[in-house]
Amino acid sequence: MAKKSIVEYVCNQCGAVYPKWQGKCDSCEQWNTIEEEKLQGGGFSILPNKKKGEMIEFVPLSGNAQTYDRLKTNIKEIDRVTGGGLVPGSAILVGGDPGIGKSTLLLQVCAGVANLSKDYECFYISGEEAIDQVRIRAQRLGLANSPVKLASTTEVKDIVATVEKANPTVVIIDSIQTMYLENVESTPGSVSQVRACAYELIKLAKRKGFVLFLVGHVTKQGAIAGPRILEHMVDTVLYFEGERGHHFRILRAVKNRYGATDEIGVFEMQDKGLVEVENPSALFLAERQGNVSGSCVFAGIEGSRPVLVEIQALVSQSGYSSPKRAVVGWDSNRLAMVLAVLEARCGMNFSSQDVYLNIAGGLKISEPAADLAVAMAVISSLTNKPLPADMVVFGEIGLSGEIRAVTQPSLRLKEACKLGFSNAIVPTSFGKEKKSDIMSYYEIGNVNRLINWFN
Ligand code: TYD
Ligand code: MG
Repeated sequence: MAKKSIVEYVCNQCGAVYPKWQGKCDSCEQWNTIEEEKLQGGGFSILPNKKKGEMIEFVPLSGNAQTYDRLKTNIKEIDRVTGGGLVPGSAILVGGDPGIGKSTLLLQVCAGVANLSKDYECFYISGEEAIDQVRIRAQRLGLANSPVKLASTTEVKDIVATVEKANPTVVIIDSIQTMYLENVESTPGSVSQVRACAYELIKLAKRKGFVLFLVGHVTKQGAIAGPRILEHMVDTVLYFEGERGHHFRILRAVKNRYGATDEIGVFEMQDKGLVEVENPSALFLAERQGNVSGSCVFAGIEGSRPVLVEIQALVSQSGYSSPKRAVVGWDSNRLAMVLAVLEARCGMNFSSQDVYLNIAGGLKISEPAADLAVAMAVISSLTNKPLPADMVVFGEIGLSGEIRAVTQPSLRLKEACKLGFSNAIVPTSFGKEKKSDIMSYYEIGNVNRLINWFN
C-alpha cells in the first residue's frame, strides 16, 4: 500500500504544530510563521510493523569512558568558550544577528585550524555567499593563503557524499537555514528542512569524528530561527552578541555538553577581522570618565573570568505622565525591582523621574550581583554626586533591602586590584570564602545604608 501523507502546520519560529493554517502562532505570538508540512507515514507510527525491535543491552555506570583529545584552535577565546578546545565529533551551533561577524569568526577558526598542521583538512561550505565573496573576505583577513577548502553549495546530499570520501577535521556550514535536502518537501529554512539537514550533518560528524560548526540565523527576538529542536540536537550552542555601534563582540556559550556554560569569549571587530581581547575589563573601562555622577563600576563574573564594567544611570525629571524606564544590557524587570526597593526601604521617589540605565561597552549582564552597582549608579545620578573613581561594587539586593552575598568575591576584588581600583563596596556576608586581604573594602548589609555614601 502506498504511504499516505498527511499535512500539518508548523510554526517556523517555535515549532508549535497546528491542524489548520492560521495567521498568528498562539505559542510564540509571531505572525506569518506557520508553514505547511507533509508528514510521511500518515503522521502515525513509521516503524515497520512486521519487524520486531531488538533487545537493548544495559551496561553499568562505571566502566571505561572515552576521553576526548580536544583540538586547540589558535584562537584562545574560542578554546575558552568551548570548554578548553573543540571536541572531535561534536556539533556546535553559532547564532547571532545578521552582520555581527559569524562568517568572519568561523572563517578565522577554519583557517586557524588548517594552519595548525598539514594533516588537518578544513572545509568551509557557504550556502549564503559566492566563492568570490568569501575570497574577498579571506584576503581582507589576511587568510588567503591558508589551506582551507572552500565550496559554495546548499545541497546536503553533495556535502555528505564529499565528506564521506574525505577525512576532515573541521567542517563549517554557513548557514543551516540555506541547506537543502531534496527528499524533504519544503523550502530551505523551513522547520523540516533545517531539522533534516542538521540531523544528516550531525550524524555524519559523529560517525567521522570531525568538528561541525553550523551557523544559525536568529529571529527578531534573538532566538535561533527554526525549530528549537536544533538547539537540542547539537552539543554546543554559542551566541555571538554585540551592539551594532560597538566594536566589541561577545561569544557566549548557552549550552555545552563538554564544558561550562555562561563562559564568554571577547573579541574586537577591527578592519582586519576579529581580534581576541585578553583583558576585557581594561577594554570595557577604557572610555570611562572619572568624577561624573551616575557612573559605578561593577565587578562581575562571566563564566570563569572576572569582568569589570561601568554601569551608567541617568535619572531626570520626567515630562511624561508615566515616567520612562529604558535599559540597555540589563534586565528591565530587575531595574524596576531595584527602584521599588530604593523607594520602599530608603524613602526615595522615582515616580516623576525617568530612569535610563546603560551597561557601557555593549556587554549584556545577567548576574543579580549587579543590583548593588545599579542602585549606586541610580542614587549617584539622583543626588548628582559622583562616586569615587577608584571604587568597585558588587552585591545582590533582596526585596527587604538586604544585600546578599554573591559568588567568588575574592576573584572580583583581585581583578579590581589588578586594574588599579583601591576600594570596594561588598555585601556584609562575604559568603563561604575567607575574608580578603587584597584591598580595602566596606561591607554593607542593607540598602538603607547606601545613602550615607552620598552625604
Ligand atoms: P559577517 O561575518 O559577514 O557577519 P554575519 O556572517 O554574522 O552576517 O560580518 C560582517 C560585518 O563585519 C560587516 O558589517 C563588516 C564587518 N567586518 C569588519 O569590520 N572587518 C572585517 O575584517 C570583516 C571581514 C568584516
Ligand atoms: Mg554570514
